[in-house]
Amino acid sequence: MALWAGRFSKEIDAGVNAFNSSIAFDARMYRHDIQGSIAHAAMLGDCGIISKEDSKTIIEGLTAILADLDSGKLEFDPNAEDIHMFVEAELTKRYGDVGKRLHTSRSRNDQVALDLRLYLRDEIQEIRGLVEKLCAVLVKLAEQHTETVLPGYTHLQRAQPITFAHHILTYAFMLKRDFERIADAKKRMLSQCPIGSCALAGTTYDTDRYFEAEHLGFTGISLNSIDGVSDRDFCLELLSAFSILMMHLSRFSEEIILWSSWEFKFIELDDSFTTGSSIMPQKKNPDIAELVRGKTGRVYGDLMAMLTVLKGLPLAYNKDMQEDKESIFDAVDTVKQCLEVFPPMISGMKVLKDNMLAAAQKGFINATDLADYLTKKGIPFRTAYKISGQAVAYCIDNGLILETVPLDVYKSFCPDIDDDVYSAIDLLTCVRARVSAGGTGKDSVEKQIKIVSDFLSK
Ligand code: ARG
Repeated sequence: MALWAGRFSKEIDAGVNAFNSSIAFDARMYRHDIQGSIAHAAMLGDCGIISKEDSKTIIEGLTAILADLDSGKLEFDPNAEDIHMFVEAELTKRYGDVGKRLHTSRSRNDQVALDLRLYLRDEIQEIRGLVEKLCAVLVKLAEQHTETVLPGYTHLQRAQPITFAHHILTYAFMLKRDFERIADAKKRMLSQCPIGSCALAGTTYDTDRYFEAEHLGFTGISLNSIDGVSDRDFCLELLSAFSILMMHLSRFSEEIILWSSWEFKFIELDDSFTTGSSIMPQKKNPDIAELVRGKTGRVYGDLMAMLTVLKGLPLAYNKDMQEDKESIFDAVDTVKQCLEVFPPMISGMKVLKDNMLAAAQKGFINATDLADYLTKKGIPFRTAYKISGQAVAYCIDNGLILETVPLDVYKSFCPDIDDDVYSAIDLLTCVRARVSAGGTGKDSVEKQIKIVSDFLSK
């Protein structure tokens, strides 16, 4: 019979049990469940709610169960209702009445709200490490390409020359924000320890919620017990942060896919990160980047699922909330997988500098620089813009680029143009000159590299 079988005269239907049970997915929180129960038993003993001796026995028993689960000596019972019931039933199996005292002044409602936080704290730690690792790979790549010129795009049309370092660092700054967003969500999550909220109303026992919170590394407790068991904001915040992180990886993936096409050929992925086609022998497909892009939709789905599960729920706990776990677990697993696969894909790819430069030489991306050159000679920018546009039109008609327009032709557009125009519109000059804060120039990019490196070493 179930642990809650008091008022029931019949066993639960097997099919209903299978439908109702969450052990198949919440078993992954067993360490955190036991960690929470140990803190609870310690508090019960400390506050004199159970005897010190029973508290000690329970803690030893839970520690032994943890070791047995870790080693595989003890297996999860697939018929258990959930991980909380499983652990408690096992404790009771081993210690009888003493085990039955563990659940004093506690409910699974506050227990699950606690376990999920403890579980996510560990996962966040791992995810942060992975984000840092990817950031470090991006910094390293950027350091090698502070003078590698490629076209920068707007509207996917060649716009202005930039350096590859500058482009790559954009993703490092996105990841830095992701890191900060996750850290912020974590801080809030750990400021509200829910245990001791009990079913919803608190308890008649003289418990010490701060003792448990402190014991478990929280900075505070949930100050309203109904909120303590109803709240899943921490899941939503993390799912939002994960969705944004995935969106960043997806944009990066999209560029990797584009860049490895024959139309761009800015990079070549390592063979070990691509696949072939079963019919087209020439194919080398960027499947990994495509999968990351695809899995982004999946993580958004997890966020939407969680928002939708919660939107119509009356206070406090409702069984609907058991659906929170698969969404957040799936998002955690997916984000980790994607973050793991990304760094070696990036560090193993070949950067085809010559192709980047060749693309930069087409498309008149130094037309702004030509206008700036004229402006510096005292010509108003709007007029300079027009002259530069005329030069571009001339190039298109005559199969030239701005660098190869003869000086006499330039002079026919504007007598102020001199021989120094050629160095002014040289692509490397163009990128080197953009030293405004955050710009693509070497000095500016080196400052950006330092910002990300300092962040990583903190
Ligand atoms: N397995 C449940 C969940 O994941 C645990 C809490 C159940 N509480 C209850 N009163 N039925 O949400």
